[in-house]
Amino acid sequence: MQEWSSARHRTAIGRGDLSMPVRQALSDRVFETSSSILDYGCGRGQDVARLSQMGMDATGWDPFFAPDTSLVESEVVFLNYVLNVIEDTNERRDTLDRAWKLSSRVLVVSSRLKWELNSARGTESGDGIVTSRNTFQHFYSPSELRTLVEEVTGRRCVSPSPSVVYVFRRDEDRFAYLAQGTIVGFEWTDSQDYASAVTELVSFTEERGRPPLFEEIPADLLPLLGRLSRRSMLELINKAASPERVAAGVKRSTLDTLLYLGTSIFSGRASFVDLPLNVQADIRHCFKSYREACARADRLLAKIRDDTYIRGAMRNSPGKLTASALYVHRRAVPKIPVVLRLYEHCGSIAAGRPSGWNILKLDHRGRRVSWSAYPDFDTDPHPTLDWTYGVEMTSLESGFQRFGGRANRPLLHRKEEFLDPEDPEVEKYRRLTAAEVRVGLYQNPTLIGHEDGWEAELQRCGVSLRGHRVIKRR
Ligand SMILES: C[S@@+](CC[C@H](N)C(=O)[O-])C[C@H]1O[C@@H](n2cnc3c(N)ncnc32)[C@H](O)[C@@H]1O
Repeated sequence: MQEWSSARHRTAIGRGDLSMPVRQALSDRVFETSSSILDYGCGRGQDVARLSQMGMDATGWDPFFAPDTSLVESEVVFLNYVLNVIEDTNERRDTLDRAWKLSSRVLVVSSRLKWELNSARGTESGDGIVTSRNTFQHFYSPSELRTLVEEVTGRRCVSPSPSVVYVFRRDEDRFAYLAQGTIVGFEWTDSQDYASAVTELVSFTEERGRPPLFEEIPADLLPLLGRLSRRSMLELINKAASPERVAAGVKRSTLDTLLYLGTSIFSGRASFVDLPLNVQADIRHCFKSYREACARADRLLAKIRDDTYIRGAMRNSPGKLTASALYVHRRAVPKIPVVLRLYEHCGSIAAGRPSGWNILKLDHRGRRVSWSAYPDFDTDPHPTLDWTYGVEMTSLESGFQRFGGRANRPLLHRKEEFLDPEDPEVEKYRRLTAAEVRVGLYQNPTLIGHEDGWEAELQRCGVSLRGHRVIKRR
């Protein structure tokens, strides 16, 4: 073991569950469960133990805890929370380089982030701090981490969330991962017989606007279809599928594909043959050519810079439109115009979309995407803000602010305005707002944006809230 100037091994904490980056990579399906996995700088090895318990082929190496593990190339390599404990910038690069050389398919890198600095105590040292336990921490900004990984690996990277970066060895894997984020996959349900298998083919066709490719049909469904030729299958589907639903499916696939091609400009646009097969099929079905699809995606992308166009799209969108931005609940995001979905996707590609958000904010004065969390949105009539994370689209600078635990937090009113009008909760929220207006709670709009002002107004009006109902105070 090398001589370290800080007690790096002390940064390895015990935890009761899989670490966040491992959970993220599993839920993003960036590797198959049969892949070989190496946890480089595995600490006490809890992720390795859990992945092994889940039946996966996982090993861990750590200069302090597991120095004798032989280092062999693996399909997936994790380098989790290691770079941030290394004091020396050159050693960070060497460590990253070593981890990258060991991964044959995908490297997952994660680190602690700048905004955690507020909760960490220590004395400044180099570009980080040394704590009272003599551990070192350098807190990265999301763009700093990504730039470092891109420089060392020489590959384009993608960030599924602010503190995690994926580097794929093959471009096709990166394209497939990105397609997953924009093109909603069809959820096949188990079929027991020929009739239910055919029903599944029809549902796929109505959902995606085209019949499935042979490669898209799950292996366990194929035997149920017997020797059905492609031509007979298409005839069957044509007879059974609803033309209106298929037309809606074509529209959905067209928009999803434009979204995918629009964002792919940031992470390298693939040649047609390198695209995932489902995307190739969508393009063949919904556009005249790949060139036409790319041109339309580029036009859409250009519209993001057009203030008038963006404001027009926001006026036609579900969500609350203010003098500077549109606010939309996560449930309504699939219903916003495609140019706004692309705007949000560009933000997520630039800075990583955090998990746990439920309100999206898109500025129309300037370009900024923010995701915020109001954890009790559904149950609290006036949910309070827990945190917000945003990225400035011109500088790509991102920032995080935590409000949870503070006094006098910002809170929401008129929750129905953030939702799609067809959302089942809208009626209940509308009734509450109408009752609140009747008792005079919105007479002083400048006072009610934070908890204290709102509480004062409730008192002034002599009311309180029980669930989503206004009641008189005793
Ligand atoms: C914060 S812990 C992270 C452990 C584990 N990856 C996790 O997420 O729980 C940092 C670990 O990095 C290890 N480490 C320190 N320098 C390293 C280096 N140059 N290469 C690989 N690992 C290193 C330390 O021994 C320590 O166990």
